[in-house]
Amino acid sequence: MRVDVVTIFGEYLAPLSLSLIGRARAQGLLDLRVHDLREHTRDRHRTVDDTPYGGGAGLLMKPEPWGEALDAVLADPPPADDGRGPVLLVPSPAGEVFTQAAAVELAAEPWLAFACGRYEGIDARVAEHYRARGVRVREVSLGDYVLNGGEVAVLVVVEAVARLLPGVVGNAASLAEESHAAEHDGLLEHPAYTKPASWRGLDVPAVLSSGDHGAVARWRREEALRRTARRRPDLLARLDPARCSGADLRVLAEEGFAPDGAGGFGPAAPAVAH
Ligand code: ADE
Repeated sequence: MRVDVVTIFGEYLAPLSLSLIGRARAQGLLDLRVHDLREHTRDRHRTVDDTPYGGGAGLLMKPEPWGEALDAVLADPPPADDGRGPVLLVPSPAGEVFTQAAAVELAAEPWLAFACGRYEGIDARVAEHYRARGVRVREVSLGDYVLNGGEVAVLVVVEAVARLLPGVVGNAASLAEESHAAEHDGLLEHPAYTKPASWRGLDVPAVLSSGDHGAVARWRREEALRRTARRRPDLLARLDPARCSGADLRVLAEEGFAPDGAGGFGPAAPAVAH
């Protein structure tokens, strides 16, 4: 996979040389190229920002350096490009929330490009222009909070995507078992334990050492359902009741959830007292 990142803070991306992602780059599984936006300015001060039309606090990134920088990226496609060009990702708190499902989609692409905004973001015409040229532009947010710029989002998205590429994570089966995995119905992962069996008075649940694989699987499913109901009830709205056993439905009912009639689960209506 080829990844181009345009930023004014290339040093921010240094962690992408470490650990599994660094190894993937060394092995040629990931070709990550960082480009300095300021190389595409024309004035003596290498200016990338200016005040917003309409007033307001803060500075916006000017469109001209972005146009030149992104044109240069688009003009140098990787051999694997299928003619569609990259997916252009623009980190922004105003974007769609980045999820595991999006990571899976992006991992199937041969080419991603990132435009890292700083300050109050990038002049809106930049995304509009590249969309009009047929580039698949996606504004993505890490969550409902504001960062100083898009670089941290690039670290997050590249790590989430690259670890799904074949050969990057040793044990592919471990990917399917994680929290948010589709194979897990998008539930949070169950709690996990390793040796010793007893630590500071806390024992590992006995079922996990029972050798009964069916019982272990049922316990894990129940814990995943309970955890999700307690911590992330929003995820249950996307849990398909058709994929739930009678035992699943009982656990969810104990946690106060019932099928919502819209393809997921929601808070159960309180029982009417007679
Ligand atoms: N840039 C600033 N805040 C951000 C967020 N929450 N997600 C992605 N990029 C951002």
